[in-house]
Amino acid sequence: MHAAGGGPMKIAVDRQATEPVYLQIRDRISYLIQSGGLKVGDRLPSIRAMAQTTNVNKLTVIEAYSVLEADGLIYARQGAGYFISQATVAPPARPASFAPEQTVIIPDQGLTSFSEVSDAFLQSQAQPDMINLNSGFPQAVGVEDLQRISRRAIKNVAEHLFHHNPPEGDPVLREQIAQLLSQLGLGAAPQDLIITNGSMQALSLVTQHLIQPGDWVVVESPGFHAYLSLLRQIDARIIGIPMTATGMNLDLLEQFLQSHRPKLIYTNSTLHNPTGITTSLAHRRRLVALAEQYDCWVIEDNAYEWLSFDTTPPPIKALDLPRWSQTGPENHRVIYTGTFSKTLMPALRLGYAVITGDLHRQIVERKLLHDFHVSIVSQGIVREYLATGHYRRRINHLKALNQQNRSVMVRALEDHFPEEASWTIPAGGVFLWVQLPRQVNVAQLHRAAVQEKVFVGSGQPFFPDQQGYPALRLGFAQPMEDIERGIAVVGRLLKAQMAL
Ligand SMILES: Cc1ncc(COP(=O)(O)O)c(C=O)c1O
Repeated sequence: MHAAGGGPMKIAVDRQATEPVYLQIRDRISYLIQSGGLKVGDRLPSIRAMAQTTNVNKLTVIEAYSVLEADGLIYARQGAGYFISQATVAPPARPASFAPEQTVIIPDQGLTSFSEVSDAFLQSQAQPDMINLNSGFPQAVGVEDLQRISRRAIKNVAEHLFHHNPPEGDPVLREQIAQLLSQLGLGAAPQDLIITNGSMQALSLVTQHLIQPGDWVVVESPGFHAYLSLLRQIDARIIGIPMTATGMNLDLLEQFLQSHRPKLIYTNSTLHNPTGITTSLAHRRRLVALAEQYDCWVIEDNAYEWLSFDTTPPPIKALDLPRWSQTGPENHRVIYTGTFSKTLMPALRLGYAVITGDLHRQIVERKLLHDFHVSIVSQGIVREYLATGHYRRRINHLKALNQQNRSVMVRALEDHFPEEASWTIPAGGVFLWVQLPRQVNVAQLHRAAVQEKVFVGSGQPFFPDQQGYPALRLGFAQPMEDIERGIAVVGRLLKAQMAL
């Protein structure tokens, strides 16, 4: 048998056995890895070659490779095939570290930046030789699946393409998403869901509905930059509560709830953008109790929820139990938003919100007047992914890829970044956050890196005052070679700047 280099490999399968054929293939490859017959970095035969030599359907091989990938034994490199992973990912030589100064930021009004960030990103994307270490989008894997699934989806929804559809979204899709969410411990009913044009639309509709100019809103600092710009656009006043290694600083939050009486708290409880931090159940409980005590709304935007390597605590929304008043149940106070942008494709523009109580109808009405409803083609495609199990396989695939790539990035940071830098090592998602020494000029570093064809995300737009402390947000959902080369360039430029 010849394996390394992607050469032929024949696996004897027993069609009479009770074990499905794809698991027999998985077991055999897994055995070869454990016994040393296949070594780290060896390339597996292509799906087509393996299907031919083993005399099975290509889908069977895809299934087998997907489970091996989900087990972390192999990984896919775009356009190059499947490779044997490092048997155990060695623990990082330098542990995660995140202990920034706890400074609350209340910025002047009127600062905006997201459109500049977005323009620069799109320009960098148009340059094919640019390494992009700023992207939070999934790698473009599984395009063949997409073609097949889209054809089926369009056939399924064809009759709905010739009229308008419900503003809250396709009923089947809402049911499917409710089922998904129950896996997180969030028992949402399908009728609590609203399908939106990306989760950004949900954030925008809800925030514009709840917030008047001059209202105070709490955000995490650093926090999702597009949301900060949205708040500025509607003239909200922002309180940036610093992040700690375990989430938003709740003691400071309580102080500012007391002193400023904000109307809304915005948070990413799982895989926070940009630090990658996931909060504990205790943190979630205290946050919702504080929101209750000081009577304010909570938006829980968990865009990266499905990319966690570990089991996560139930969302804050699951702790938001109905309260009864004399006239009946009162509005719940937590709005949960999610998206398929990080697991399927951002250009489908498919997100969702769980909104209970009176607010649900109000937001549906806003959505109706905004754009009638989300494209029925996008809804049909996501429906098909969820109905066929391709979604689960794809998530497993992305998580295995991301875990591998996160290790590559951490190793590259250890090798190339100066001692004084520190970083988070998130248990999932696609970003990590690097804190740099005070003297570093991040804007200059960004410009120098772009000159060398590496697009790296400055931390500044993530702070409410567009400054904060020197930091970088690095996206690891990139080809490994790009991560290694990109981090080496940025590390060299950083050291050169610090030596001046
Ligand atoms: C934290 C967070 N929320 C929401 C979004 C919006 O994603 P979409 O509108 O594509 O669902 C993003 C995308 O970058 C994000 O990072």
